[in-house]
Amino acid sequence: MSGVRVRQDFLIFGAPRLPEEAIAAVVETLRSGWLGTGPRVAAFEEAFARYLGAPHAVAVGSCTAALHLALKILGVGPGDEVVTTPLTFAATANVIVHTGARPVFADVDERTGNLDPEAVAAVITPRTRAIIVVHYAGRPCPMDRFRDLAERHGLFLIEDAAHALEAWYRGRKIGTWGDMAAFSFYPTKSLTTGEGGMLATARSEWAERARVLRLHGLSRDAWKRYSEEGAIDYEVVEPGFKYNMTDIQAAMGLAQMSYLERWLERRARLWTLYQEGLRDLPGLILPPEATEGVHARHLYTIRVDPGEAPFDRDRLARWLHQARIGTGIHYKALHLHPFYQQAYGYRRGMFPRAERISDQTLSLPLTAHMEEEDVLYVVEVMRALWRGEAVG
Ligand SMILES: Cc1ncc(COP(=O)(O)O)c(C=O)c1O
Repeated sequence: MSGVRVRQDFLIFGAPRLPEEAIAAVVETLRSGWLGTGPRVAAFEEAFARYLGAPHAVAVGSCTAALHLALKILGVGPGDEVVTTPLTFAATANVIVHTGARPVFADVDERTGNLDPEAVAAVITPRTRAIIVVHYAGRPCPMDRFRDLAERHGLFLIEDAAHALEAWYRGRKIGTWGDMAAFSFYPTKSLTTGEGGMLATARSEWAERARVLRLHGLSRDAWKRYSEEGAIDYEVVEPGFKYNMTDIQAAMGLAQMSYLERWLERRARLWTLYQEGLRDLPGLILPPEATEGVHARHLYTIRVDPGEAPFDRDRLARWLHQARIGTGIHYKALHLHPFYQQAYGYRRGMFPRAERISDQTLSLPLTAHMEEEDVLYVVEVMRALWRGEAVG
């Protein structure tokens, strides 16, 4: 018999914390008469660019859209190769496929989960056009090394900063190191707009092109056509996408900007409680700190070493679920998925470090929405499971 009392409500993985201002801002927008891309998107972009210290930020419908636009704007297409990590969400590599280029994976640093610059260097060919790094779990990549590598080989450097809004590396915000950077405002992210994303860049012509491409390739967006600013005509200057953000989303995002650091501190406190509560469990590998800079603490990823722990990752996930705790897997490595195997001949054995993480990793709930007792409950359940007790 277990001594743990199973909680009533399910601990949702990635539940966001929304300040009341964000809810009020959405309601105000709904009443304003303008729901589409307009003044609130412009204000959100300005606040976001200021927060990052980036000259330009262009709001879009998702991080996936931002990554796709980045590759399009940099001219990546058929015959090109783009190097990225297999330890990421499908979107990072799928967008490479959508441009007609080939996704080329390189292995990760097993401690940080980030792309290994040496592994990247080893797969660069004359066809390589760009590198997409992912700041895995919020831990900043060694961006000086990636910058050097990109410059040496004449490659574009793109940051998938979906996990890393609050991260820094060597005194500079993550998202300002690459030629372009993409952020996500998906519901599990530290700032959410329901769905949404941002493309950041220092180059004004790239930002301008992104503004055109995000809305069908029109020379003039709807706000410029229908508001008092406006001439109502427009021209299609290239076949763009439907990747714009709405004012409803932007109002929600803008209202969260002033909370980012507060919520990061809160996640840091919860992180420490996990570290203290779990550190002595055999076969459990806890997530490392950032090697350098500021960790955005987006994901708390543990690893279960099946040789040392009393059970494997999948069984742990099932038991935690029975104890009403939601978890996530970040990630099943992309080269193990059928599409990437069938289309490009990837197979198990090619990226052993990413594979070990893929097989052993489990993300425990960590958001600013959580209370300390939520973390203490997860710790209590984990400790009971390690003692061999059934919970749930
Ligand atoms: C590393 C990474 N890249 C890209 C994305 C895609 O973001 P979005 O859902 O905003 O398109 C995600 C989403 O979770 C992600 O974690």
